[in-house]
Amino acid sequence: MILAPSLLSADFLHLEQEIEMLNASEADWLHLDVMDGVFVPNISIGFPVIKALAKIAAKPLDTHLMLVHPEKFITQFRDVGVQSLSVHYEACTHLHRTLLQIKEAGMKAGIVLNPHTPVELLTDILDEADIVLIMSVNPGFGGQKFISQSYEKVRRLRKIIDERNVHTLIEVDGGMNIERSKAMVEAGADIIVAGDSIFKAEDPPEMIRQIKRI
Ligand code: DX5
Ligand code: ZN
Repeated sequence: MILAPSLLSADFLHLEQEIEMLNASEADWLHLDVMDGVFVPNISIGFPVIKALAKIAAKPLDTHLMLVHPEKFITQFRDVGVQSLSVHYEACTHLHRTLLQIKEAGMKAGIVLNPHTPVELLTDILDEADIVLIMSVNPGFGGQKFISQSYEKVRRLRKIIDERNVHTLIEVDGGMNIERSKAMVEAGADIIVAGDSIFKAEDPPEMIRQIKRI
């Protein structure tokens, strides 16, 4: 299992220490949440902050774009140093083209599904996706209530991926803690994103270790 702590829950006044903590921890990737205030009712970090943290991050930057028109910014994200770019299904009119452009730019390409979007809609695009990110909360904020229907959704996607014999990774984001991570991995998830459960823990590196040991 790949564990990607979400920096949205980190202490932004001490971002350098937070990244160094993650570098030294058992975390595999770092999850970055980019919001535009239009696709979601919140605004988070942008290029200057990502560029700065990419210089010290020793692990791949897994970037979740909560933006309308994410296709406008593909090479800019590559240039500031991110390794994977996931765009919302609900935000892309020409999703096929956008995924190809992300891969041509040299990054992993991911599709994110809001809680209401069924996995079955991916039938004709799955082969192009390195990652499918299932949102287990409505995107926009850390620390929200987990939507338990997400287990069933991950199971259905696992079945489709196995039947099609593709190598797409399943990522789950929102409200993940130790127990839910365990259940999600059993349901077929490959990547777990966790924000509050790691950064609000008394000992974040120890929480990372425990989630990795599930
Ligand atoms: C929500 C973000 C998540 C968020 C997860 O829009 O996509 O990555 O930071 O935070 P928790 O784990 O606290 O739900
Ligand atoms: Zn996210």
